[in-house]
Amino acid sequence: MPSTVGVQSEVTRAEAEERPLISIKEVSKSFGGVHALRDVAFSIRAGVVHGLVGANGAGKSTLIKCLAGIEHPDSGKIIVDGVAVQIAAPSDASALGLAFIHQEMSLIPGWSVLRNMLLGQDPPTRLGLIDWRPARVRARAVAERLGMKFGLNISVDDLGPADQWLVLIGRALMRDARMIAMDEPTASLSSEEAGRLHTIIRELAASGTAVIFVSHRLDEVSALCEDVTVFKDGQVVDRRVGESVPKAELVRAIVGRDLEIAEHGQEPAEHGSPILVVNDARDGSRVHGVSLVVHSGEVLGIGGLVGAGRTELAGLIYGARPRLGGSVVLDGKEVRFKEPADAVRAGIGLVPEERRSESLFLERSIDFNINVSSLGSLRHSRFWPFLRMRESRRRARRLADAVTVKARDVADPVGSLSGGNQQKVAIARWLVERPRLLILDEPSRGVDVGARAEVHRVVRELASQGTGVLAISSDSEELVGLCDRVIVMAEGRVTGELVGREITEDRILSLSFEHGDERKTNDDVRCA
Ligand SMILES: Nc1ncnc2c1ncn2[C@@H]1O[C@H](COP(=O)(O)OP(=O)(O)OP(=O)(O)O)[C@@H](O)[C@H]1O
Ligand SMILES: [Mg+2]
Repeated sequence: MPSTVGVQSEVTRAEAEERPLISIKEVSKSFGGVHALRDVAFSIRAGVVHGLVGANGAGKSTLIKCLAGIEHPDSGKIIVDGVAVQIAAPSDASALGLAFIHQEMSLIPGWSVLRNMLLGQDPPTRLGLIDWRPARVRARAVAERLGMKFGLNISVDDLGPADQWLVLIGRALMRDARMIAMDEPTASLSSEEAGRLHTIIRELAASGTAVIFVSHRLDEVSALCEDVTVFKDGQVVDRRVGESVPKAELVRAIVGRDLEIAEHGQEPAEHGSPILVVNDARDGSRVHGVSLVVHSGEVLGIGGLVGAGRTELAGLIYGARPRLGGSVVLDGKEVRFKEPADAVRAGIGLVPEERRSESLFLERSIDFNINVSSLGSLRHSRFWPFLRMRESRRRARRLADAVTVKARDVADPVGSLSGGNQQKVAIARWLVERPRLLILDEPSRGVDVGARAEVHRVVRELASQGTGVLAISSDSEELVGLCDRVIVMAEGRVTGELVGREITEDRILSLSFEHGDERKTNDDVRCA
């Protein structure tokens, strides 16, 4: 028997569903031959966190860009507060109280927190200048609401990714947003930081703001979202209103079948000789004496919180950061790379964390991006470039398929792919010429649940052919599914090592919070 309160809340909910904040009606959008959205229809309610999920390229970001006035639907209607609206430009969306944090949007480096929060606001004085005093007062109020623990005057360069996200949310709140859409806000956050963001999102919803939340982390969608819409190939294939959907059901709706999620690592297979030996590497700031070995055929994971020094450690190995001490030995030879290109020449494959700025040529084709590491080797052919064209295109197609890149044609620019599909291209490149060592920094960031399994399979296959793999990931589920061995770092030091079946999410997490002790780092870590 439902209580009176229960009945009342049911009534309120029914009313709210009848009067949604935003209704999307039969919205379609094509890019050339690609139907990014086909007759998409669903509603967004005030005060509710609404999850948008679906495979890479399913149309989530395109839908959000249509609401933001960045893309324009070919047909269909967008209704806000019962009135059909034209959102021709971002300023129209802003005037309607809709705020956005896009998938690849970033802060202006070098600018202060305050200036970044004010970005895009209409200049409030007649001279077109920002009147700093009231702006600062408002920003302070927003900062307090979000629990920002840093000053408004510091440069955003000095903030970690979770705090940078807070600044982006702060920017949205500066405009009195009635709805905030967040496209994969937690992709680059550790689980602890993501938890902080969840609390803020819940509070935003409780205060009446509608939140659109896009994520490939399905456990958080399950825990956080009251309404969920599932996209597949540009269409809505499932809609849930007022219920939390278990993760396994979300997986089934997205992938079309159940996926097994490993609870612990596998017994490691026999490995070959050491490929990479790092001894006591340090940079004087973020990495304080780390030693590790990667063997031929082995996938070694590095876990830990964002900011633990993992990316910096990788940078010390491949020459992106100056190393102050320790040694790096590749295939028995001590190396010191001046820049990443030297490391690539020496047989190291790199998939950096910031794939868009550091590894992909967005205006160039998928074909070019996949073949770029091997253009030199093809040049030896007598029939180059004719052979190169045909051969490389065929090869690109095969490799793009192997990692399930969703694209119309390999001649299309990488910039036209969805975020997750760009990441797959960055990985496919290294399947062309098997590197001796492959360094992956957050390999499945933004990659959907089905494709992630494919990416892992492909990486393991490379390893089985003798490549040593070093995989950094903040996602402990990924480390469990991918690695033979995992070391965990905290505060620039190694806090422990897990092998085979010892690798579980819980153990990775608890090691992430331990203090990196210098003595332990160099003596206790099993290297052989
Ligand atoms: N500007 C564009 N030009 C051409 N095609 C595009 C463009 N923007 C998106 N697309 C295509 O539209 C489809 C939907 O892309 P969208 O970015 O919306 O996917 P998504 O669901 O956000 O994926 P992800 O999870 O990888 O971010 C994809 O096939 C993509 O390649
Ligand atoms: Mg997207």
